[in-house]
Amino acid sequence: MPTFEDSDLVAETPLTQTKSRDINRAPSNNLAVGDSPTLAIPSDIQDGTVTSIEVPATRNSVADTTNYMHNLSISPSMKDRRGSRNSFGTSLPIPRGKRQSRLSSVHYPDGPGAAVRPGMPPIQPSRDIIAAQLQDLAGEKVQAAKDMAFVFDIDGVLVHGDRLIPEGQRVLEILNGDNELGIKIPHIFLTNGSGKPESARIDQLSQILKNPIHIDQFIQSHTPMRALAEYYKTVLVVGGEGYKCREVAEEYGFQDIVVPNDIIAWDPTIAPYRVFTDEERKTSRPRDFNKINIDAIMVFSDSRDYATDIQIIMDLLQSENGRFHTKAKDPVSQRIPIYFSQGDMLCPTEHPFPRMSQGAFRIGLEAMYKSLTGVELERVVYGKPELATYKYADEVISSWMETIHNDEKLPANIYMIGDNPASDIIGGNMYGWNTCLVRTGVFQGGDNDEENPASFGVFANVLDAVKTAMKKELGQDFNFEFNEKINPVHGKGSAIE
Ligand code: G3P
Ligand code: MG
Repeated sequence: MPTFEDSDLVAETPLTQTKSRDINRAPSNNLAVGDSPTLAIPSDIQDGTVTSIEVPATRNSVADTTNYMHNLSISPSMKDRRGSRNSFGTSLPIPRGKRQSRLSSVHYPDGPGAAVRPGMPPIQPSRDIIAAQLQDLAGEKVQAAKDMAFVFDIDGVLVHGDRLIPEGQRVLEILNGDNELGIKIPHIFLTNGSGKPESARIDQLSQILKNPIHIDQFIQSHTPMRALAEYYKTVLVVGGEGYKCREVAEEYGFQDIVVPNDIIAWDPTIAPYRVFTDEERKTSRPRDFNKINIDAIMVFSDSRDYATDIQIIMDLLQSENGRFHTKAKDPVSQRIPIYFSQGDMLCPTEHPFPRMSQGAFRIGLEAMYKSLTGVELERVVYGKPELATYKYADEVISSWMETIHNDEKLPANIYMIGDNPASDIIGGNMYGWNTCLVRTGVFQGGDNDEENPASFGVFANVLDAVKTAMKKELGQDFNFEFNEKINPVHGKGSAIE
């Protein structure tokens, strides 16, 4: 089974490399045509606060485009790069600061005390006392409970769009303390979903799952891209409904955010087939983009208008250093970088067959770019199964451990529960996690996925997976309910006289 540590899967740059950046400087894409990589992270070294870590792009064969790109692979020398999900040799910055709640002023529907007893009813002192006594007497089991963690994919595991997968609610109740020890089992959420601020998404998910979800245990595809705000000043943000991705970028600290509507409002001829409403005109922020250089393109979420977005992105990629109404003399050295928040080809929805996702948009864009310029498009893709996203997940897990158990450490036994073998499972496998594949989403196969088998097995649903994993770590007879009437000393009857 491949791992991220395999030499042919990991770029030979150091795993962590820290620098401070001059965000006012254009990216250092000053390489000659044909040089690699062309999508370099600006590398100015300056004094200042470093709040990100750079992780080299992986070269895995999953969630990539190989199977879809036969017509585009023109020479053997391009083969390796065509098989790559990310442009080889680039780095993906991830935030060094793990807690989003320290960085943003978001509010939680469940109030600030929620992390203390997530998922549990209002404080009942006797319950807490009993739980504490039980935990005192079950030292080994408690250690094991703190030495395991779950990482949940969301779509196809806990919910289908806005619809609850009922086992998902029960799982969260168990992990939030409804278990024989009354203990919180560490868990985070790692989704390739996108398109709205984390605070809005957790509000929505908390309601659907009827359990509080804290922003500090939540990662969506673009969450680690917060780190890019340190690198680029003016960015084009693409995708999502209305202006929600502008909001996301604002929360991440990007200084100067442009969205396609701003461009159309400035020059409607740029997108000849777009019907631009009065409302859109009113809410856009046109400027004289003849005078502004866009430093990078960030595709945060699915495009709602492929024709317009692809046209604008193509114009920028072929421009001189991100200036509209210009044409680069050299398509490579003057090209601005482009980032995608995730690479999934397909996404399960209410429709009977999965729908095309951001990966499909990217492949179309790459093909068009290649046809128009004759050169490959260098790009960076975040999200599962990219190494950077898993490294960020580690940061978030250990930080969440500190929040719930006052012990900032990474548990030894991590279980990834997902429905998509090509992202959740292969990424978890390569990262050395136990992987559980559930049958409630994308995966519809037999005993296990043939290409990317789940290491811990295939389960009917998330509850089966979680119970099996907990029994393995905590004992086959582990009880998935907290009994408030139990006497902690002899394990029977009532502790309260
Ligand atoms: O591929 C799009 C996204 O909705 C997938 O979400 O939670 O399954 O990673 P998730
Ligand atoms: Mg999924």
